[in-house]
Amino acid sequence: MSTARSTPNIALIKYWGNRNNDWRLPAADSLSFTLSEPCVDVIATVADSFAVTSTKELSEKDVERFKRHLELMHEYLNTLNLKLPEHLAFHVDSHIPPGIGLASSAAVFSATAIAVAGLLEQELTTEQLSVLARLGSGSAARSVLGGFVTLENTGTDGIDSAVARQVAPVDHWELWDIVIAPSTTHKKVGSTEGHAGAATSPHFVQRLQDIRLRQSNGIEAVLMRDFEKLQTVAEADSLDMHHCMATQQPPLHYLSNETYRIIRELEALRRGQHLPVLYTMDAGPTVHCICEAEAKKTVETFASQQSDCTIFIAKIGSGAERIKG
Ligand code: DP6
Repeated sequence: MSTARSTPNIALIKYWGNRNNDWRLPAADSLSFTLSEPCVDVIATVADSFAVTSTKELSEKDVERFKRHLELMHEYLNTLNLKLPEHLAFHVDSHIPPGIGLASSAAVFSATAIAVAGLLEQELTTEQLSVLARLGSGSAARSVLGGFVTLENTGTDGIDSAVARQVAPVDHWELWDIVIAPSTTHKKVGSTEGHAGAATSPHFVQRLQDIRLRQSNGIEAVLMRDFEKLQTVAEADSLDMHHCMATQQPPLHYLSNETYRIIRELEALRRGQHLPVLYTMDAGPTVHCICEAEAKKTVETFASQQSDCTIFIAKIGSGAERIKG
């Protein structure tokens, strides 16, 4: 038995679209920081047949996804001449509250990868662990590490040709993610289906070209702790990803009127008080307000004034870890 714990991450330069959907090889590099909370624990156990249970209800699609992840982990470990026991059972204990706009897949599949690696006789490198996680969910590769993390293409075409790397450790820069989730009945198309349609957007090729510069500027901004520079590239990239989503077939409109209202008000607050705060949105209407320590109190007050919104606060976290077994 092997148990691991992990958390979500928030992308500053977004991953959208794959060059290989089954292996979740991203079409472009991305940059995120790992969150300190909320966490997910995954227990992997040697069993007679595949099974997955959870504290949350699992759909048939969820179970199939775990199964496929396990098949791909076998496939990848074979290339390293490593063998897993043939059948594994998983139990997922999620502490991610519903409705806060923090997709749990990054936390779940990075924890799964670390738990599975704990059953091997040989220790894997961090890059190898990130590949294992990426095979379950692209962004999960980044949650394997703490602090500021990239998911980078390595220039080849194999199952291992995109890996996560740490750009700066957890204590490099004190940033907070104040999450404002507008309540919504908006039906969400999952990222996996969304990635598969990304290339149908007439804007996709341009996005892939532009993202190179944004990625290097984003990394530079993190290394220099240059908030203004980070704000410029992170906001541009988030809006650019949503433009791509909205112009792909079928179009995906994840942002709501509430999202636009919140970001307009946040911009006005930032201008009025010269606050180091930026906004970014993933595949949903939730606004992630990322700020430096000096802006935290004001942004928290702003968040608490939003009616019908769920608020969640996290700082930078240390990434997935094996906790027992
Ligand atoms: C918009 O990693 O959730 O959050 O591989 O299908 O699980 P799957 O996709 P996922 O895609 C992340 C999309 C995003 C941007 C990001 O986190 O970089």
